[in-house]
Amino acid sequence: MKRAWLGLAVGMALSGAAMAEGRGGSEVAAVNNKQYLSECSACHMAYPPGLLPARSWQKLMGNLSNHFGDDASMAAATQQALTEYLLANAADNSDYRRSRRIARSIPADAAPLRISEVPYIQGKHDEIPARYIGGNPQVRSLSNCAACHVDAAQGNFSEHGVRIPGVRGGGWDDDD
Ligand code: HEC
Ligand code: HEC
Repeated sequence: MKRAWLGLAVGMALSGAAMAEGRGGSEVAAVNNKQYLSECSACHMAYPPGLLPARSWQKLMGNLSNHFGDDASMAAATQQALTEYLLANAADNSDYRRSRRIARSIPADAAPLRISEVPYIQGKHDEIPARYIGGNPQVRSLSNCAACHVDAAQGNFSEHGVRIPGVRGGGWDDDD
């Protein structure tokens, strides 16, 4: 009897965790934290936490006053809350397939601050001509995910949802 009850409790705890993590998703979990959305989308899209491992977010959140040359500092309590959200949903703590691949591609001793420098992400874009990215006034940099991935805010980075602005057809292949 006691055993059956325990089993039920464990089962409930697991399904709760699965719901929180969105187990089984093939892409990246969408941002579901309002505070994060408002604090981290002033200068660029609110990057989904599943695009970087926990150690990268830890490092980034520890130095917001010098954030890629900008000052993105915030109240200590806000910073703490956002750090907890980012760590809990980081690529290496996610069950989403794309996040797991991102995490696996980064050497254990590396903590990249840029998603655009993650090996898995670089490998996915290394055949796109520079004139479509840096040389494209509507994109400017690979960091600008949402310029080309129309469903980036939903955590969807599938190649089927890509439209490169200023490129006829939105494709990048010469054969397109
Ligand atoms: C005051 C403006 C500003 C705010 C606010 C801001 N950022 Fe940034 N962020 C930048 C700039 C500028 C860059 C560099 C963009 C570039 O080089 O193209 C950047 C880059 C990044 C990158 C690297 C993107 C890449 O792959 O190249 C991450 C990750 C990031 N920010 C996360 C955050 C998080 C998390 C927050 C909220 C805690 C935040 N940012 C708030 C200005 C800001
Ligand atoms: C210049 C437009 C552009 C920008 C900016 C861009 N991407 Fe992409 N991305 C593409 C294209 C085009 C592909 C498809 C490449 C291919 O099929 O070889 C792609 C592919 C991908 C894939 C693999 C999709 C799949 O179905 O296998 C991921 C993941 C991805 N991008 C994530 C990102 C993230 C994260 C960012 C921002 C840090 C970003 N991309 C910025 C154009 C872009």
